[in-house]
Amino acid sequence: MTTTPGVRVRVPGKVNLELRVGPLRPDGFHTLATVFQAVSLYDDVTAMPHGRITLTVTGEQAGAVPIDDTNLAVRAATALAAWTGVEAGVALQVHKGIPVAGGMAGGSADAAAALVACDALWHTGCTRDQLTTLAADLGSDVPFPLLGGTAIGSGRGERLTSTMTRGTFHWVIALADEGLSTPAVFAELDRLRMAGGADATGVEEPQLDDALLQALRAGDAHALAARLANDLQEPACELRPALHRTLEVGCAEGALAGIVSGSGPSVAFLVDGPRAALEVAVALTASGVAGDVRRVHGPVPGARAVEAVRA
Ligand code: C5P
Repeated sequence: MTTTPGVRVRVPGKVNLELRVGPLRPDGFHTLATVFQAVSLYDDVTAMPHGRITLTVTGEQAGAVPIDDTNLAVRAATALAAWTGVEAGVALQVHKGIPVAGGMAGGSADAAAALVACDALWHTGCTRDQLTTLAADLGSDVPFPLLGGTAIGSGRGERLTSTMTRGTFHWVIALADEGLSTPAVFAELDRLRMAGGADATGVEEPQLDDALLQALRAGDAHALAARLANDLQEPACELRPALHRTLEVGCAEGALAGIVSGSGPSVAFLVDGPRAALEVAVALTASGVAGDVRRVHGPVPGARAVEAVRA
């Protein structure tokens, strides 16, 4: 019997350490200034040879992931095939560890991993720059999981510059049972701004905080905690009021700071090391404010082939 090699790619989720949302652009996106950090919560995407492009999903909240042509990983494989002129198909298998619709770019991570996996499977030989260009067309958050580490994002979040950090930061992630829609959270921000008298298109250009970047360079978790900020936190809490309580509990139980991750509803707590992580995780679990809890660290590398898979 002959065996057919496939490829397995591991890809991380992300937390936005700072997320500043600027004006609403004519194309419906907002100008962003953000700092992404890849954290050790992973999806695995396996690509096996197949006649067509197909997808199966396993793991946590797998039932909440669409498996038709709207799935971002399927769109990524389709886009790569079209761009390179490859006529082969692929059986994609996604194993979820990143929360679905959780504000940690899980769907975007799957798309990034699908690009890397299909590029290897089909021997298309794309450069990282070419994959990044394809990734940016698929979604604002797709380029970052290709890169990993810690990076500044501008434009609509897709333009990246890696930034230096020292050491490892420890996080506890409080997961919610049900996701939030990213467009709904951005729309709620616009609504809140308009209710406050501002025009969504006339908001100032977003700026990052130098002190946050300095804290990252120094590897100083206490200084970083004081600077975590997310303009989407208020609208996410408005749409999901239970998040106020989650934030309160984590901070009362020893986290240095808590922040809604991206558009939420996952909440990321920065802690002072693995021991504090365990204490905060136990307290969050016991309090019942989180659907589930994960202890993670960052920064970690972006999408990487971890093994060849034999059929
Ligand atoms: O780029 P992506 O497909 O992930 O964006 C999903 C939605 O999130 C957009 O259609 C838009 O409503 C909102 N968004 C935004 N500004 C951004 C990124 C996303 O308004 N910079």
